[in-house]
Amino acid sequence: MSKESKDYSKYFDFSGAKVLSEDEHGKRIRINGREINILSEPNHRQEKQRGKQSVEVLYDTELPEEFRRIGAGKHYIVYTYGCQMNEHDSETIKGLLEQMGYQATEDRKQADIILLNTCAIRENAEDKVFGELGHLKHLKIEKPDMLLGVCGCMSQEESVVNRILQKHGFVDLIFGTHNVHRLPHLIQEALFSKEMVVEVWSKEGDIIENLPKKREGLRGWVNIMYGCDKFCTYCIVPYTRGKERSRRPEDVIAEVRELARQGYKEITLLGQNVNAYGKDFEDIEYRFGDLMDAIHKIDIPRVRFTTSHPRDFDDHLIEVLAKGGNLVEHIHLPVQSGSSQVLKKMSRKYTRETYLELAHKIKKAIPNVAFTTDIIVGFPGETDEQFEETLSLVREVGYDAAYTFIYSPREGTPAAVMEDNVPMEVKSERLQRLNAAISEYSRQSNDRLLGATVEVLVEGVSKNNDSMLSGRTRTNKLVHFEGSRDLVGTFVNVQITDTKTWYIKGDMISNPIPASDAV
Ligand code: 5AD
Ligand code: SF4
Repeated sequence: MSKESKDYSKYFDFSGAKVLSEDEHGKRIRINGREINILSEPNHRQEKQRGKQSVEVLYDTELPEEFRRIGAGKHYIVYTYGCQMNEHDSETIKGLLEQMGYQATEDRKQADIILLNTCAIRENAEDKVFGELGHLKHLKIEKPDMLLGVCGCMSQEESVVNRILQKHGFVDLIFGTHNVHRLPHLIQEALFSKEMVVEVWSKEGDIIENLPKKREGLRGWVNIMYGCDKFCTYCIVPYTRGKERSRRPEDVIAEVRELARQGYKEITLLGQNVNAYGKDFEDIEYRFGDLMDAIHKIDIPRVRFTTSHPRDFDDHLIEVLAKGGNLVEHIHLPVQSGSSQVLKKMSRKYTRETYLELAHKIKKAIPNVAFTTDIIVGFPGETDEQFEETLSLVREVGYDAAYTFIYSPREGTPAAVMEDNVPMEVKSERLQRLNAAISEYSRQSNDRLLGATVEVLVEGVSKNNDSMLSGRTRTNKLVHFEGSRDLVGTFVNVQITDTKTWYIKGDMISNPIPASDAV
């Protein structure tokens, strides 16, 4: 497994630190009276590199017996920030903790270990985590034996790890996105040594199969690939998640089959850029379209995927998606900007025109498709005209929904050093105008459903009203309707009677549809 070299002094600000010992396994230092065992640390320069070495897939990940009792009688909490990839990593983290004997709790006072699985995509995501660490400091003072850990994307950043070492010495454990499977060993080390343990690998790890996962609900996430090689200039993900590595098709298919067997009603295939699936295989020609075609034949009612990159969305994939069945007619296709000039500065590698061409091609093949997207406003130097181009593209595509963001500079990315003359008030105003346009189109697409009958996967009971249920259509629209709670987990037909901007309401018009008939 790859680990980076250990030239600590170069990357870390260890001012005030005393080196206690150093050998090939790492380095022990003392900062502000706290002893810290650094097994390995993040290194931005190495995170940027894309090595030629092939990725190994490890299947033998059985947890040794001596780790299985560490958590007996103890409780854990995992807080997750950010995207579905992080949510899914947390399922693995919880799975590992439960294998170690820990039990879940929601009560902080009962917890013996609390882990924050963090997101680095925008500054406000990081602020939230530092805010939470501030709160947890008090708990840690009350309960010094509780282990407090930080993992996920923020741990991959040198500046974050530095800040924790210098200012949040009460943290016990820091690990990154590539070594989640090492959690049992790191917990053992932290408990045994009482030092802060830091292990962050900067080069992507191998693919580790067969890790336990604690899935909840009716919908399952399945990783199909890890990392990203696109290096959009604003984005930190290629640094925090490493190079693109695809899971072997047979492993993905076996996992989907197993979820089908367990009765999952919906799966979402996950990757930072799922359309690049298989590009890294050296021995086989097998791409995302081939994988979707195989999964299309598996008896699981609904299959989604996220996230797509417009650049790699090929014709074969469109042809496969058009087969319908369990492949739902919803495509999340991040555009980021409607201006070709801005897209160029973002290094998105498509233009406004080629994006629109792709969207039209998909619409032609899948006439009732719902598009959703991600958009960034206020990218460095974005002019009023360029922003207007984004608005006009939103109108032209007519998205059903969109995640919209104000650009947030991320240290170490190329855009962070681009000149930015757009004042924050202008950026905020653009965001508001964009959100207004998106709401308008969302409402229009909902209005078109008035009177129609849609298939709904019932997900739960409304928090405020026991007799109201909610669920999602194939196009991922939120639907509320009256029904009894034993319908949760089934498919029903609902006739739409009322529409709002972000949800629709209706009346159930049939008995539950057996899952096998719903596809
Ligand atoms: N600032 C604002 N938004 C960003 N995103 C990624 N990086 C940044 C950034 N630095 C958005 C993109 C991406 C989504 C997951 O987050 O729109 O698609
Ligand atoms: Fe970030 Fe671009 Fe990769 Fe998406 S495709 S994760 S925006 S670098």
